[in-house]
Amino acid sequence: MRVKKISENVYSVGVLNPCVRICDIIVKTEYGTTYNAYIIKNNGKSALVDTVHVRFFDEYLENIKDVLGDTPPDYLIMNHNEPDHSGSVAKLTEIYPEITVIESKAGAIYLKNIVNKELKVKTVVDSETFDLGEDELKFIIAPFLHWPDTMFTYFAKDRVLFTCDFLGAHFCEPKVFDYNIKYRKEYEAEFAHYYAAIFGPFKPYVLAGLDKIKDIDFDTVCTSHGPVLTKKGGGIEHAKEMYAEWSQTHKNEVEQIPIFFCSAYGNTAALANHIKSGITEVKPNANVEIYDLNCFDMGKLSQIMHDSDAFLIGSPTINRDAVLPAWNLINTIDAVSMKGRACAVFGSYGWSGEGCGNLISRLQGLKLKVGETPCRCQFIPSKSELAEAVRFGKEFAESLKIESQG
Ligand code: FEO
Repeated sequence: MRVKKISENVYSVGVLNPCVRICDIIVKTEYGTTYNAYIIKNNGKSALVDTVHVRFFDEYLENIKDVLGDTPPDYLIMNHNEPDHSGSVAKLTEIYPEITVIESKAGAIYLKNIVNKELKVKTVVDSETFDLGEDELKFIIAPFLHWPDTMFTYFAKDRVLFTCDFLGAHFCEPKVFDYNIKYRKEYEAEFAHYYAAIFGPFKPYVLAGLDKIKDIDFDTVCTSHGPVLTKKGGGIEHAKEMYAEWSQTHKNEVEQIPIFFCSAYGNTAALANHIKSGITEVKPNANVEIYDLNCFDMGKLSQIMHDSDAFLIGSPTINRDAVLPAWNLINTIDAVSMKGRACAVFGSYGWSGEGCGNLISRLQGLKLKVGETPCRCQFIPSKSELAEAVRFGKEFAESLKIESQG
């Protein structure tokens, strides 16, 4: 991406990556992404805002030189230190050894362990200001948006707010500004996907971040991915509104306790049905739906699990483990927002029956509140084992009552 002037004193010096289809291993990027970086050049002083993925360092450096010529930048502001933005710091500081890095205290710890060498660093605290060529930069500490070290930077003179990943999108828009977006529908989809993947686990922090910027006067938002948002293009209001809407948390009006299972010969299914009887005996008003993991879209099941108040998962054991559909569901768990969620495990087995134990270990590792003893039976559940499944369901439901009273 060639240099683009964003405002009187701010330039975009980032790069395009239209070909990438997965970022950070887990986020699909159907329309590529951009690694945005900026320069604030003001009254003879300059500050870079963020670097780029190290693979694009040469292009980034060329862009910097297009703006600054042979004059070295004075400062590098790192709004957070994920390597898609901090990856070029080591190389940059070889070329500009006198540059001072400005970042949060957490950021300084992370960056030290990313570059593995001593840098000139100035750490800042929330609302701290700093003069750049006699005009003020203000730093807004915004933890978990989405890294612990995240901060925003505000340049009042040009009414520009640099928000790091916040309000961004993995969307490769070569014309930089939101009012130039040609494929609006595709952008909207990627904007929503980006929020869900990156900020969905941190909803309370998103609301706190929006609150922190609500009284700041800005008409341009320079994110670290995707188009620059403007008042003129409507992107700022839209992004803030959608983040606010998506970050609302609500308590279920009817208690949701889904039961997920797989069953080869109907034995784990029988346990699911009897566990449900036990739960509904204790909680007659709860919604206790049973879902065969092979009969529903995994995304839908995952949403149901995340929206639940508590859930159960059942799997037979095949070759000393739980079966793949059960693992597929567990692999979708957002360990941040699901921390402490009550759950329990059940399943029939034929030989040695390790499946339930393996699921419990994994759920414990994710810090869910999982019952340590599963409901199990060998092959076909007997009458007494089915009665035990009912009792298991009752006990699980009782434990939820105790929890909500506690
Ligand atoms: Fe785009 Fe959190 O890095």
